[in-house]
Amino acid sequence: MKYFIVTFGCQMNVHDSEKIAGILENMGYQCGETREETDIIVFNTCAIREGAEDRVFGNVGALKRQKKANKDLIIVVCGCMTQKEKTAKYMRETFPFVDIVIGTHNVPKLGEYIAEVRAKRQKRLLQLFEEGEIDESLPYVRTSGENAWVNIMQGCNNFCTYCIVPYVRGREKSRQEESILNEIKNLIASGKYKKITLLGQNVNSYGKDLSPQVSFAKLLKDICALDGNFSVSFMTSHPKDLTDEVIDVIANQEKIEKYIHLPAQSGDNRILKLMNRSYTREKYLDIIKKIKEKIPNCKITSDFIVGFPTETEEEFLKTMSLVEEVKYDSIFAFMYSPREGTVAEKMDGQIEESVKNDRVNRLLALSKCLQKEDK
Ligand code: SAH
Ligand code: SF4
Ligand code: F3S
Repeated sequence: MKYFIVTFGCQMNVHDSEKIAGILENMGYQCGETREETDIIVFNTCAIREGAEDRVFGNVGALKRQKKANKDLIIVVCGCMTQKEKTAKYMRETFPFVDIVIGTHNVPKLGEYIAEVRAKRQKRLLQLFEEGEIDESLPYVRTSGENAWVNIMQGCNNFCTYCIVPYVRGREKSRQEESILNEIKNLIASGKYKKITLLGQNVNSYGKDLSPQVSFAKLLKDICALDGNFSVSFMTSHPKDLTDEVIDVIANQEKIEKYIHLPAQSGDNRILKLMNRSYTREKYLDIIKKIKEKIPNCKITSDFIVGFPTETEEEFLKTMSLVEEVKYDSIFAFMYSPREGTVAEKMDGQIEESVKNDRVNRLLALSKCLQKEDK
């Protein structure tokens, strides 16, 4: 019996797929080579932009023929996109040949659902909204070579006005420090991993919800104190929570890679405020200055959104000038994509696609050009 997983979206989703693989292998499935020769296929979806969702619909739709030819094929759609009740329903109605549609919070129970489908050939649309405890029990089937992803927290409390993540991943929930340290100890002891990448939507607010609280800086120091020859990196950092203490730890700890992904999103203060990012251009540049002073040669990267509602040409040029000023090693630039249920989706002054397209191209061209200059 073979399984095949198709993953969309961020590293956290990739890591979730490693857990799904763990569940399936526990049930006796083995990893298949292609999506055609498989007994179960799982789509682990992303909802961050409309394009990501369109790709999922296309991929799932294409399975209709395969299901017709093989009635026993089990099709699962899970992840951020189907955590939204409306999308989950639409998925079930439009693609009735899909067997299981679940959200992000139901993954630990996937094994039970599959067993049920196999026993009764029953299709399931499940409750999507219960947020459970962080699941510590199931094994991961790790797929990224010498690097091991380690989740340190789930969810996000920031509610940036454009972003769907808090709605589909729930509130911030940190793992106990001891569990994280034990997981890393075991990974290093296995001799298979040379790099640990800590994952969270906003790793700098790690531990604020624990009692007693544990800071991200302390977690980093405690990880570095573990025996073994390995490096540590992490993503993603939110500028509002990146403390001097964390910058110092990165500077002083040999095991930590000198690399920070610090999404700015915009270089204009009015837009940053509308985005609910809780920092200004000046505060952001201050942090960058500190990083450059304390960690020479630190690689710095960022994400930007262009064409946020009401963004003027002048405000977009502020983003261009920020990119010029910081001299990033590389950037990701996205055209703003309205997400249903978010605050920005309802704002007046939505920007035309052609304008967004033009801005994203100019921003990417600038960033490429600056990278060439450096070399
Ligand atoms: N937690 C991370 C990012 C998660 S999403 C952080 O706060 O930085 C990854 C990137 O997708 C974001 O940094 C943002 O640039 C982009 N993004 C999020 N929502 C978007 C939307 N509605 N339209 C376009 N880009 C978006
Ligand atoms: Fe989305 Fe903002 Fe949370 Fe990042 S910090 S996941 S952009 S709400
Ligand atoms: Fe996408 Fe969910 Fe990650 S929306 S970017 S897969 S948290």
